[in-house]
Amino acid sequence: MLCYRRLIHRARRETGPLPSLTGIIAMNPSACLHIDQQLLSENVRLLQALCQRQGVELIAVVKAGCGLEGIARAVLAGGCGMLADSRLDNIGRLQQAGVDAPMVLLRLPSPSHADAVVRLADISLNSEYDAIEALHLAALRQGRVHRIMLMVELGDRREGVVPAQLPTLVERLRPLGGVRVVGIGSNFGCLGGVRTTVTNLSELVRCARDVEARLGYRLEHVSGGNSGALPLLLQGRLPAGINQLRVGFSMLLGRNPYTDEPLPGLHTGVFELEAELIEIQTKPSLPEGEVVLDAFGQVPHFEDRGPRIRGIVGLGRLDTDLATLRPADPRIEVIGASSDHLILDLTRSGPHRIGERIRFVPGYGALVQAMLSPYVCKQFRQPALTAEPVPARWPLPASPWRR
Ligand SMILES: Cc1ncc(COP(=O)(O)O)c(C=O)c1O
Repeated sequence: MLCYRRLIHRARRETGPLPSLTGIIAMNPSACLHIDQQLLSENVRLLQALCQRQGVELIAVVKAGCGLEGIARAVLAGGCGMLADSRLDNIGRLQQAGVDAPMVLLRLPSPSHADAVVRLADISLNSEYDAIEALHLAALRQGRVHRIMLMVELGDRREGVVPAQLPTLVERLRPLGGVRVVGIGSNFGCLGGVRTTVTNLSELVRCARDVEARLGYRLEHVSGGNSGALPLLLQGRLPAGINQLRVGFSMLLGRNPYTDEPLPGLHTGVFELEAELIEIQTKPSLPEGEVVLDAFGQVPHFEDRGPRIRGIVGLGRLDTDLATLRPADPRIEVIGASSDHLILDLTRSGPHRIGERIRFVPGYGALVQAMLSPYVCKQFRQPALTAEPVPARWPLPASPWRR
């Protein structure tokens, strides 16, 4: 039985102070994404402790950071030694920034990227013979052996070979000396919304034992999925044999992906989006005139609540995802947004003033889009943790791996 409280205290203590450097990545007066590296490090530290207790290796999925060095450094400061991303561009950016950690490529590699995959990724996830053969040839050209994890499709219907085809794939891979199968894995909840369970993870372990028998050696990694596996881990119900998890969502947002409830001991405030109020006016809640398709191809519907105090902040659909954006003040309601304007109902929360900064808690979609928006500045809260002075503009600096 885990002593949860003790682990939390120890995780907080061990995180310790981080070196002090302030990072302002791009300046924009209107909208800003604040990133608290200390809280992120503490989340990593706790997850790492929970995983270690059960003999599970934690892989930190940093893809929502879009290659931002400070996110990776906070994860490493939290004690997790292996990072994962779905994009080679991000892995290349992190390496160019001097982030020195083994990197897992999560998205199945395109054969045309095989050389870069072998050069940049320590492990890649795979399900297709042709892509693996391309990696094998690239590895031979580079005088290396590339490590691969085979993905098995166990119900979510995204990537992975179906279990019945796994033996055939493994047999075909045996002669390929440029690659070594070091693990097998599966992913749940991302397409079909399928929950990670004892049943589907036990099937993964059964597949792993079968692959080991065919290859004649023990697999290093049996990778039982993503944040969706954490509830099982916390209940101590992860099937024996699962020895790795790849976690992004819960590490970054501190929440249970199935319920969106905070996970005990994890911080939910690593990220905060802030934008300035640029209009405050009392207006009727219903549009006036003939209502047709809006700019995004939808016919909008509004409830008649009479005149309301409405605010506009300088944030729009170009910058974030409305569906997963929550005002920090629960009395503020989101009415809607167009490309550049986010409309709020401020009737219950006032008084407000023009220029005031309204704070939002981003969900995963809102976070990724804000991270990607060049119009949203990214600012590390004190103390910031970067090896080098941060670049003046973010995101999308030149991709280093396409050379
Ligand atoms: C293959 C794979 N593993 C793990 C993850 C991490 O998932 P989550 O962010 O839900 O923990 C993802 C998605 O980011 C993924 O595509």
